[in-house]
Amino acid sequence: MRSDANLAGPMADPVPGPRSESAADDVSRETSSPPLVDNDAPIGRAAQLAVDALGRAGERLPRPAQTRIMVVANQKGGVGKTTTTVNLAASLALHGARVLVVDLDPQGNASTALGIDHHADVPSIYDVLVDSRPLLEVVQPVVDVEGLFCAPATIDLAGAEIELVSLVARESRLQRAIQAYEQPLDYILIDCPPSLGLLTVNAMVAGAEVLIPIQCEYYALEGLGQLLRNVDLVRAHLNPTLHVSTILLTMYDGRTRLASQVAEEVRTHFGKEVLRTSIPRSVRISEAPSYGQTVLTYDPGSSGSLSYLEAAREIALRGAGISYDASQAHLGAGMNSTQSMAEGIHSE
Ligand SMILES: Nc1ncnc2c1ncn2[C@@H]1O[C@H](COP(=O)(O)OP(=O)(O)OP(=O)(O)O)[C@@H](O)[C@H]1O
Ligand SMILES: [Mg+2]
Repeated sequence: MRSDANLAGPMADPVPGPRSESAADDVSRETSSPPLVDNDAPIGRAAQLAVDALGRAGERLPRPAQTRIMVVANQKGGVGKTTTTVNLAASLALHGARVLVVDLDPQGNASTALGIDHHADVPSIYDVLVDSRPLLEVVQPVVDVEGLFCAPATIDLAGAEIELVSLVARESRLQRAIQAYEQPLDYILIDCPPSLGLLTVNAMVAGAEVLIPIQCEYYALEGLGQLLRNVDLVRAHLNPTLHVSTILLTMYDGRTRLASQVAEEVRTHFGKEVLRTSIPRSVRISEAPSYGQTVLTYDPGSSGSLSYLEAAREIALRGAGISYDASQAHLGAGMNSTQSMAEGIHSE
């Protein structure tokens, strides 16, 4: 596994794949003839937002000098780990990065959301962990998003927690597989199951950064102490580079006082690790997986898509040591408040 910033890849063509053509078509149509849609109408605004989102996706972002491996973890279920993994990964890829999603959850939700076949016979991350199969043999490209790849999870993985116990180097099998994976990558995002068992430990040994999605609901912080203690334990005994680098507030609903209270509490508690960008509660985000898509391809102009693009931008800039200026956030047409981006976008 290596990061090669000089590769002629998607970065050379910052808006990869067929979507760059459609964006270009839209632009040329707009400039050469009168607008086909009324931009004040909701549908016109949606179209404009989509074009803006595609344009933003083509923006160049700094690429990390070395592959950044981010472990998306929170043992609380349903907080947005998988949604965050796949949408951030797609956002980074649409910005020209080469990104691998490792689905480490037996539920296989990340594989489903990326439209990756993961029925029982498909070579999967189970084979990598338990049978030492090379990662290269299980990675599949994600259709529609150039530069995005996925190592799928099949239902076999449900037994892996137990099968791993008796294997040599049980905590570092994923790390070894990733180290032996010689493809150039800018980011690896690992989607963890909602538990702190051996699968999550394997992810924490393989990666340096932990990304914790926190749902803006009551009880949000409960259980976080245990997660942080596990991070400390893995750092002390197995992986000295491990640290919590990123906290992302998800399912933020600015209309409720509870959401802003939770957000404030998280920001007070964690400070600089918390991204300025938060992810709004959005129907589009929750609909996208049933079409085997990320929200970026399902509805590029939606608030959910724009906020994940912005979160990816913030992560890339922070990683390059460039301070993130929320007042420069790309809100898209019709959105003009820094506050709305910092606290999640609410117009859909
Ligand atoms: N911003 C959002 N707006 C609306 N719905 C969302 C949002 N983020 C996630 N969801 C929905 O919430 C549910 C849980 O999300 P997700 O599967 O990403 O959580 P998870 O932490 O991976 O869950 P698990 O612990 O089971 O792996 C899903 O149905 C998803 O579509
Ligand atoms: Mg999940």
